Amino acid sequence: MSDQVILWVHLLSLAVYFGSGVMLTAGLLPSAAQLPGTREKQRFLAQVLKVYNPLSIGALGVVLMSGAFNLTSYKAAFPGLQFFSLLGGVLGLKLLLVFLVINLSAAVSLGMGHRIVRTEVRGEEIAPDRLARLVTRMQILTILALALTAWIVWVSLDLTRIARLPE
Ligand code: HEM
Repeated sequence: MSDQVILWVHLLSLAVYFGSGVMLTAGLLPSAAQLPGTREKQRFLAQVLKVYNPLSIGALGVVLMSGAFNLTSYKAAFPGLQFFSLLGGVLGLKLLLVFLVINLSAAVSLGMGHRIVRTEVRGEEIAPDRLARLVTRMQILTILALALTAWIVWVSLDLTRIARLPE
């Protein structure tokens, strides 16, 4: 696969990941909060999270894999220590932020989100105050993940700028 195709995959999957997070925090979670009963809230949340959880985690997985592929051509372009001296700092920061985003996203989708879906599938009901706390936590963690992702995009622009600088 050419570098351009891999970067295209990286950016498109990033768009899906970021867009789904915005949709969840700005649209879906506030809509759930408007519903009258806990049963309706849980059913609505389970329906949307059934799509959101795999979509968001899947898209993040593609971002990570295509990012690693992107790195291969960078390593070829900057052999040996040149790679670390030129890109080490900014790449280190990017990977640290990526690590945080993975943890936040996993907590939202695989932890809290999946718990709501499983409870609904089993025909059980989450206590109203617990459901409200879960939704608030999902909202906060998703906003944090989006803010960190925006920071990663900023750092990534630096990464490519440094890599293009004449030596
Ligand atoms: C949430 C995670 C990530 C976000 C938001 C992100 C964002 C971006 C963006 C916006 C660009 C384009 C920058 C530009 O063209 O100026 C980019 C490029 C790049 N990313 Fe990521 N990235 C992520 C994860 C990763 C990971 C995990 C790696 C490496 C393991 C990686 C390696 C790269 C590389 C090497 C490029 C440059 C590709 C090129 O210019 O050909 N990214 N990333």
